[in-house]
Amino acid sequence: MKREKAIPSHVAIIMDGNGRWAKQRGKERYEGHLAGVDSVRNVVRAAVRNGVEWLTLYAFSTENWGRPIAEVEAIMQLFCKTVVGEGDELARQGVRVKIMGERTHFSPSVIEMIERIENTTSAGDKLTLVLAFNYSSRREIMLAAQSLAQRVASGEMGVEDINEEALSASLMTANIPDPDFIIRTSGECRLSNFLLWQASYAEFYFPETLWPDFDEEAFDRALEVYAERDRRYGLVTED
Ligand code: IPE
Ligand code: IPE
Ligand code: MG
Repeated sequence: MKREKAIPSHVAIIMDGNGRWAKQRGKERYEGHLAGVDSVRNVVRAAVRNGVEWLTLYAFSTENWGRPIAEVEAIMQLFCKTVVGEGDELARQGVRVKIMGERTHFSPSVIEMIERIENTTSAGDKLTLVLAFNYSSRREIMLAAQSLAQRVASGEMGVEDINEEALSASLMTANIPDPDFIIRTSGECRLSNFLLWQASYAEFYFPETLWPDFDEEAFDRALEVYAERDRRYGLVTED
């Protein structure tokens, strides 16, 4: 009997290669980010169609603030425009949006926009789309350690209560299952500070495709790759 194709419950994508895509076409880096928004739309559609339940997209790292100011500003504007413009369509597709990252850097108007799309789409029950924006995994782990230490200091919990569950629950991904499948486009093979704790047993895939060229077909192909993987979790599989 043929086994049913394994579909990852949670796919996380490091959307990389926008700058190179633009450079290849003699365009500004910004044009690559703009084209990348279409890929986000396509991949969300493909994820819903395939029955993926969680899709996390790495959109802006804490380190990305160090890029030239014009590029950072262009990305911020594009992010806000997209977040404002896509809410209704995402809600229609049954997609619930969550923005994950430190909000302290954002202006009140950006925070309001973020809260608005989270509210507009809160009833979505097909797919949860997590947008990692101003996210850094090391900082996330460090903040979790601080919050656990504070709870111990206040007597709310004991040192012996600090276990894997407690740490997971203190991360920005609390209530989000660990990713099953991490894709990084553009051929780079690194995590760049993304989901370091959560990726312990994820499968990895590094297609050469630049993010603006990553379409529904590319996503389907990635799922085929995942379906061939044998996840052993340190155990032994029976033949
Ligand atoms: C990814 O594309 C988007 C962000 C990091 C915001 P890049 O902008 O990193 O594209 P490359 O790596 O320079 O091609
Ligand atoms: C990682 O890509 C961050 C995002 C995709 C948002 P970068 O292009 O910033 O990472 P490095 O510099 O190549 O490691
Ligand atoms: Mg890059």
